[in-house]
Amino acid sequence: MIKFGVIGCGYWGPNLIRNFSRFDECFVKTVADLNEIKLKNIKKFYPHIEITRSADDIFQDVEIEGVIIASPVSLHYEFARLALLNNKHVLVEKPMTSSYVHAQELVELSRKKNKLLMVDHTFLYTGAVKKIKEIVSCGQIGEIQYFDSIRINLGLFQSDINVIWDLAPHDIAILLHIVNEEPYSVIATGISHTDNTIENIAYITLQYKSNKIAHLTSSWTSPVKIRKILIGGTNKMIVYDDIEPTEKVKVYDTGYTVVSDEEKHKILVDYRAGDVYSPKIDQTEALYGMADDFLNAIINGAEPVSNMECGLKVVKILEAAEKSIKNKGKEVVLNGDN
Ligand SMILES: NC(=O)c1ccc[n+]([C@@H]2O[C@H](COP(=O)([O-])OP(=O)(O)OC[C@H]3O[C@@H](n4cnc5c(N)ncnc54)[C@H](O)[C@@H]3O)[C@@H](O)[C@H]2O)c1
Repeated sequence: MIKFGVIGCGYWGPNLIRNFSRFDECFVKTVADLNEIKLKNIKKFYPHIEITRSADDIFQDVEIEGVIIASPVSLHYEFARLALLNNKHVLVEKPMTSSYVHAQELVELSRKKNKLLMVDHTFLYTGAVKKIKEIVSCGQIGEIQYFDSIRINLGLFQSDINVIWDLAPHDIAILLHIVNEEPYSVIATGISHTDNTIENIAYITLQYKSNKIAHLTSSWTSPVKIRKILIGGTNKMIVYDDIEPTEKVKVYDTGYTVVSDEEKHKILVDYRAGDVYSPKIDQTEALYGMADDFLNAIINGAEPVSNMECGLKVVKILEAAEKSIKNKGKEVVLNGDN
């Protein structure tokens, strides 16, 4: 039986505790949180779980093999570092850290200690994203030309991170998982409507060396909740609407052919709008799939889907986007010196 310690049982932590409690191979031994009320709530539902106000009790417990971190983002690095230093496997919530240097340091420490470091990019385990990956990988939609995502709602303003660090990790992780090419550069703009200069609306554009583009919209200030991703290929286009209760993914047999009329110096576009179909998607709870992946990686040494390299790349793009926002939309080359 693998014993886990969970740090942070606010909004997301209880979902992790619930899912890890479904496996025979493991159980949550201890939960740490500064908030007594939240700890008491956990005890009410899971009387066998030990509760503590100090995360250190988890790091010092030799019986605990893995630490699950669901604290505010600004604490991810320190908690993950201490867990690895105490020879524990680590599952950290998205984004892995709030700085690229810290994420790199954790990846190196994980290798040095030979302990697993995984990031919970939950969406990679949804039936919808798994199906989209399958459709794109088998070449059905052709060459990807654009990836356009909108993730907006009347969201909780965070005090330690801006809207891109809160919402865009989901879209960036999905993008990196689906598009088999690393973006070349980032251009981002954003605005803060509060006194603390923390942006609540942001637009990120990712440019590629090849003929594709990605655009992500993140906002905590929309009257409606939209979770939509459009992926355009040279043959077909996909619309993924996560708010839809059924038929979240639709594949459009839509496309166009461009013919240049050199004599008239004109571009002629021939449109094609064919059938639309909605594939059947796996309904398993994504968080259960993620927990299963973490366990399988610990027990069998399998490579998790949401591995630390993926977490590292997500942080790299977020940091570049933040830099671009602070420089009024200046292009930041991802592997450059800027
Ligand atoms: N994967 C997803 O879809 C998803 C969804 C929501 C949140 N998250 C992530 O989960 C993490 C937590 O988010 P949340 O919305 O649950 O936040 P939250 O503020 O509701 O919960 C954080 C908890 O951490 C506790 N905490 C703070 N400092 C602590 C300390 N020093 N020691 C122990 N506990 C401490 C707080 O008391 C609080 O209960 C964030 O990283 C967030 O990005 C992921």
